[in-house]
Amino acid sequence: MRIGIPRESRPGETLVAATAKTAAQLVSLGYDVVVEQGAGVAADQPDTAYADADIHVGTADEVWASDVVVKVNAPTDDEVARLRPGATVIALMAPARSPELVERLSAAGVTALAMDAVPRISRAQSMDVLSSMANVAGYRAVIEAAHEFGRLFTGQVTAAGKVPPARVFVVGAGVAGLAAIGAAGSLGAVVRAFDVRPEVAEQVESMGAQFVTVDMEQEVSSDGYAKEMTAEQEAATAAMYDEEARAADIVITTALIPGRPAPQLISAETVAAMKPGSVIVDMAAANGGNVETTVTDERVVTANGVTVLGYTDLAGRLAAQTSQLYGTNVVNLLKLLTPAKDGELTLDMDDVVQRGITVTRDGDTMWPPPPVQVSAAPAGATKVMPVEEAPAPPPDPRRKWYAAGLGAAAFAVVAALAPGSFLGHFTVFALAVVVGYYVISNVSHALHTPLMAETNAISGIILVGGILQVGSDNLAVMLLALVAVFVASINIFGGFLVTLRMLEMFRKD
Ligand SMILES: NC(=O)c1ccc[n+]([C@@H]2O[C@H](COP(=O)([O-])OP(=O)(O)OC[C@H]3O[C@@H](n4cnc5c(N)ncnc54)[C@H](O)[C@@H]3O)[C@@H](O)[C@H]2O)c1
Repeated sequence: MRIGIPRESRPGETLVAATAKTAAQLVSLGYDVVVEQGAGVAADQPDTAYADADIHVGTADEVWASDVVVKVNAPTDDEVARLRPGATVIALMAPARSPELVERLSAAGVTALAMDAVPRISRAQSMDVLSSMANVAGYRAVIEAAHEFGRLFTGQVTAAGKVPPARVFVVGAGVAGLAAIGAAGSLGAVVRAFDVRPEVAEQVESMGAQFVTVDMEQEVSSDGYAKEMTAEQEAATAAMYDEEARAADIVITTALIPGRPAPQLISAETVAAMKPGSVIVDMAAANGGNVETTVTDERVVTANGVTVLGYTDLAGRLAAQTSQLYGTNVVNLLKLLTPAKDGELTLDMDDVVQRGITVTRDGDTMWPPPPVQVSAAPAGATKVMPVEEAPAPPPDPRRKWYAAGLGAAAFAVVAALAPGSFLGHFTVFALAVVVGYYVISNVSHALHTPLMAETNAISGIILVGGILQVGSDNLAVMLLALVAVFVASINIFGGFLVTLRMLEMFRKD
């Protein structure tokens, strides 16, 4: 069979459904592939890149006459008309929101597979284009926000003064939200996030962000998607959204309930109360937006200086990356549809993934598919989110003084009994402990590996000291030197072994 990859007709579209690399992977499944001239130019895939990979670059007529047409956006009326009866078209189709498109595809007698209808089950993750695109878009949302924001994300202490870290609030911790949390955190911002699904709190926290809690009943989702909020939940969250948005420098909203308009969560009043220079990226703009002041596909600056971005092409702004991921999702789908790798596409309606994406089959309408239960979480299980715990009572301040007194007394005893030279060494030791404690406890987690290397180097010095002392006439000194040599050797050689094991983990073969 021949697969055709057309040039996208949507104005401004940068994506292409197959890169040179993924087109070659389709060939290895037994297909002939033809790519329309100029189809990949905006995604850094010039015609020469396909030609170098031995992919045929042809005309639009050749592409649309193919047995299988793979594209990114849903086919337009004209494009549906160009498909030949019995052909298969694979694209993003939003079939739940496009009944007219489903009718047209059915009337054309074609088989239509919606890439955006892949069920969210583990086995189908490698074909889940919505996750691929939301992941890139979440990252890009942070980059757009950082570009608009007039300050640094990371906190710094410089000769010119202290710079506080930016405070980022992410609404909705699905794929896009988690990607945004990761990107904002890695730029050094302090990140807080909220989601109506309480089960994502752990994921938010594992990415170094703080999960904002609200005192209300929240339901653990049975299918990985949120349900619409009740009136009580809306009332309970409204004050939280207002408070968090006012305190934030950047707000990124991603709240979505599949098949519904995006819930409006941040009011114009709240935006009007935000700090001048703050930035909102409303990722739900394509579905109406989570923020009242969002204008789809526009950059709006409010009277109080808040920039609101309603871009819907965030994934397309990283066209090369998104096209590669989209193309790989397509290859994974075609691997499933071509079990014999013989270039013959087959559809198995008993398979939940294949059934789930089939919108029409040889002209028969197959939409909607039967629902798929996609989570292990028991349906309807409810969980009451903990109210923020009251802080533990402060420790008795007298304890510090008792400990200091005890330390001073012990030092006095040692000073009175020990020889004079010992006192000098002991003072250096005590100061080293104090300085070491403050230095190590202030080193960020990311720098713990170099810190370990430093401490290993210090062990090297101990080893040298131990070796010098091991020939001492004094038995106690000799034994202590032996122990020092032994312990320091474990640390140094053990350190190398651990490093070796870590390096092994990154080795591809
Ligand atoms: N702008 C772009 O270019 C672009 C690109 C890709 C995705 N998106 C959009 O990003 C959004 C997120 O996509 P996704 O794949 O991460 O979806 P997702 O379903 O994985 O995540 C949406 C999250 O929102 C949460 N949510 C729903 N209602 C909520 C509420 N009232 N308060 C708080 N959280 C709520 C859900 O629990 C879920 O975790 C969607 O609107 C999608 O269309 C935009």
